[in-house]
Amino acid sequence: ALTLASTAPAFADPVLDDIKSSGELKVCFDSGYMPFEMTAKNGQYIGFDIDLGKQMARAMDVDFVPVNTAWDGIIPTLLTGKCHIIMGGMTITPQRNTQVNFADPYVIIGQSILLSPSLKDKVTSYRDLNDQGYNVATKLGTTGEQAIKRYLPKASVNLYETQSEAVLEVANGKVDAFIYDLPYNAIYNAENKGQLVHLSEPFTYEPLGWAVAQGNHDTLNFLNSYLRQIKGDGTYDRIYDKWFND
Ligand code: ARG
Repeated sequence: ALTLASTAPAFADPVLDDIKSSGELKVCFDSGYMPFEMTAKNGQYIGFDIDLGKQMARAMDVDFVPVNTAWDGIIPTLLTGKCHIIMGGMTITPQRNTQVNFADPYVIIGQSILLSPSLKDKVTSYRDLNDQGYNVATKLGTTGEQAIKRYLPKASVNLYETQSEAVLEVANGKVDAFIYDLPYNAIYNAENKGQLVHLSEPFTYEPLGWAVAQGNHDTLNFLNSYLRQIKGDGTYDRIYDKWFND
C-alpha cells in the first residue's frame, strides 16, 4: 500500500525553511529609490516595496525585517544569507539572472531622461544625447549604467553612489542629463517643477522582479503564487495607487 502522506518530507528549501523557523522575513533593498524605498524623516523605511514586503510577511505570519543595503553590494548580501529576498526595484537582467533567481515581474519600467533645461531645444530623445559633447550621469551598477553604455556610447559617463547625487549634478549644471528608471524621474520632476526637463518616453524595456538565491524553488513558488493572488484580489492595485498615482 502507498503511504505517501507519512513519508512526504516536511522541509522546504533552505530560504523558506529559515523564514518559517526564524519567524522573520528579511528583505534587502537600497533606500533612496523613489517610490519603491525611501527613508522617512523619522527613520522608518517607506515605499512600494516596503508595503509589499510587509504585506507578504503578514501573509506568511512572520515579522518583516528591513535590511537596507548599498546597491552595489545587494546581490552579495543576498547570497551570503543576510536577507532572504531582494525587493528593490531590481531589473531582471540576464547577467543578474546567472547569479540569482527572479520571481515573475511585479512592474515593468524603462529608462527616461532628466535633461538640463539649457538643452531642451537640442535634445528631444536619447539618440540626440549620443554625442561626444555630452556628459550623462546615473547610479553605479544600475541598468541606467548599462543603458548608457549601450545606447549612448559616445557620451561621457559620470557614475555616483546614489541617485540623488547624480541628479543633483544635472540640477547644478555640471552634467547634461540624468538617465534613470522612469518612476524615479517622474517623481523627482514633480517634486522639483521646472528645474529639469523630463523626456519621459522610456527607451528600454525593464521588468522588475524579486530575487532569491539560486535553487530556492519553494520560495519562488511562494512569491509567484503570492504575486498572482495580490494582483487578483485588489491588494496590489491598492498599494500601487498609494505610491504611483498621487
Ligand atoms: N532598476 C534599476 C536596476 O535594476 C535600478 C534599481 C535601483 N534600486 C534601488 N533600490 N536603489 O539597476
